Amino acid sequence: MTGPLLAIESSCDDTACALLAPDGAVLAESVLTQTGHAALGGVVPEIAARAHLAALPGLIEATLAQAGVTLENVSTFAASTGPGLIGGLIVGSTLAKGLALARGKPFIAVNHIEAHALTPRLPRLAADNALSGSLAFPYLVLLVSGGHCQCVAVEGIGRYRRLGGTIDDAAGEAFDKVAKLLGLGWPGGPALERLAMEGDPRAYALPRPLMGRPGCDFSFSGLKTAVARLVAPYGNAALPRRAAADIAASFQLCVADLMADRARNALALLPDATALVVAGGVAANATLRARLEAVAAEHALPFVAPPLRLCTDNAVMVGWAALETLRARAEAGLGPPDDIAVAPRPRWPLDDVRPPGEARTGEAQR
Ligand code: KG4
Ligand code: ZN
Repeated sequence: MTGPLLAIESSCDDTACALLAPDGAVLAESVLTQTGHAALGGVVPEIAARAHLAALPGLIEATLAQAGVTLENVSTFAASTGPGLIGGLIVGSTLAKGLALARGKPFIAVNHIEAHALTPRLPRLAADNALSGSLAFPYLVLLVSGGHCQCVAVEGIGRYRRLGGTIDDAAGEAFDKVAKLLGLGWPGGPALERLAMEGDPRAYALPRPLMGRPGCDFSFSGLKTAVARLVAPYGNAALPRRAAADIAASFQLCVADLMADRARNALALLPDATALVVAGGVAANATLRARLEAVAAEHALPFVAPPLRLCTDNAVMVGWAALETLRARAEAGLGPPDDIAVAPRPRWPLDDVRPPGEARTGEAQR
């Protein structure tokens, strides 16, 4: 690959485009977060898909202009092809495929979770985290956002082991639901964290589901129910601010404790881990970061938290995952994958992603 790679992300409510040089340098990046969903209390898939369709052509043009690159110079196209909301995935990947086909260039179908998981290997991030060179395999990623909540051992390109995941809500979803119970707006995580600053995290002894048990799964629904019980006596009356702040602080500490416990179990399963990485929107939470940083320190490991812009959904990570795939394939003596026929998938487990040269289940070889 000689020219830049253009990547598109449209799997949820962020419309994003990025241009990356073959070495991973970011030439330009743009993200539009759809704000219309706030009034509706959550992401409405059909509205999100239409908004991606309306925004993407302009966003691609703006991103190209930012880098002073024309479409003709782009040598490879990539898009998140799953998992996610199917409407948005269809919009982004069809657009990228169309651009690739029209120019006779390769299209790379990127697994969105794989993209989150490989982000800490971006050359720029390695430098930010004082790592010598790219973050080496294997490492542990705790992916915590509104849509994802899983613990993944990243052992190589296409070699991902899901050590655990949530058995009910995603972590961000739990933050959003508890924030709603406390009368805060959507998305609830940032508002809850602000309110928690005024509260006492030891005020309420909330249950810590699965804590101390083996494994790396998460569960938040019991915790959410416990908060609902605390709030119920107030009925329709406004919750006193002091009580709301104490509940917010107690809930936040509880989630951080749960995550730390799961991270410890995961590190026990991956004794040669080179780092503990946290990614996803919930990684913005300072209490959670502090708890995980302490776990990393206990294991004498670097703690890597990509800057928020790269933690939440973005197209740089999609482009980087595509570049990693190209490089790994080249090392295996293979050219770019032929992914034009790869259909967008709302569910695309990481276990179905394979190293270069190994066919993945039900898909064209990549
Ligand atoms: O990664 P993201 O932007 O989008 C996806 O869900 O894919 O994550 C958004 C989630 C929301 O649930 C939001 O409430 C949560 O991340 N979040 C936070 C914080 N900032 C965002 N949760 C806790 N504390 C925060 N500071
Ligand atoms: Zn995501």
